[in-house]
Amino acid sequence: MTQRPSAPDDLKLWSAVDRYYEALVSPPDPALESALSESQAAGLPDIQVSPLQGKFLYLLAKLRGARRILEIGTLGGYSTIWLARALPPDGRLLTLEVDPNHARVATANLVRAGLDRLVEVRLGPAAETLPKLLEAGEEPFDLVFIDADKPSYPTYLEWALKLSRKGSLLIADNVVRRGDVVDEADPDPNVRGVRTMNERMARHPELRATVLQTVGVKGHDGLFLALVE
Ligand code: SAH
Ligand code: DHB
Ligand code: MG
Repeated sequence: MTQRPSAPDDLKLWSAVDRYYEALVSPPDPALESALSESQAAGLPDIQVSPLQGKFLYLLAKLRGARRILEIGTLGGYSTIWLARALPPDGRLLTLEVDPNHARVATANLVRAGLDRLVEVRLGPAAETLPKLLEAGEEPFDLVFIDADKPSYPTYLEWALKLSRKGSLLIADNVVRRGDVVDEADPDPNVRGVRTMNERMARHPELRATVLQTVGVKGHDGLFLALVE
């Protein structure tokens, strides 16, 4: 690792700014709060997107006018709730999760949020579920959020392209990793996965991509955004 870890003072400041803006743009929200507390009570890792990032995903989905959303990596359904709230009443969100306990907690959280009619949690390794979606003739998705195991990001980008169309928005979480991503020799499979995805994106003629570096309660990381043109 070439990068210094975030200094504790940096993280304190970034978190204070996150909390300040959260209070302004994401007021107390029972469904989101209980999704977090139920996830914690069930022992799920505390690695969901931050509230401001969740709101950002919601805004992107709204701006895109997304009617069909695919999420890869559900955890307790926190990002799922943000994204599903951007859907019209006849919209659909499919979220893929490998861990039965995560899927169970997420399903209960989605019921509590009143979103279970719009959302389906599909259990299984995404590398197996994704090809089945194509075989089953799923309509293309307007937005794909990639947030499962990072070593598989190159595979997930391929499937996201197959399952989307011109105008779809592809998003991937955790593409900066405290800056580790700039180290081409980093053997960490998470870094390798993100870098390989990035190389494929850069070679893809139909992707218009950028990365938004973020700091906040989750430290220094970033979101990959790509429009299929
Ligand atoms: N999107 C969530 C966080 C997801 S954390 C949020 O921000 O709220 C990553 C999730 O991906 C975990 O729940 C993990 O179990 C799941 N995951 C890991 N490997 C996977 C795989 N091969 N297929 C599907 N899901 C996987
Ligand atoms: C971590 C954070 C994430 O957003 C994620 O999707 C997976 C892991 C983490 O902080 O370890
Ligand atoms: Mg993530």
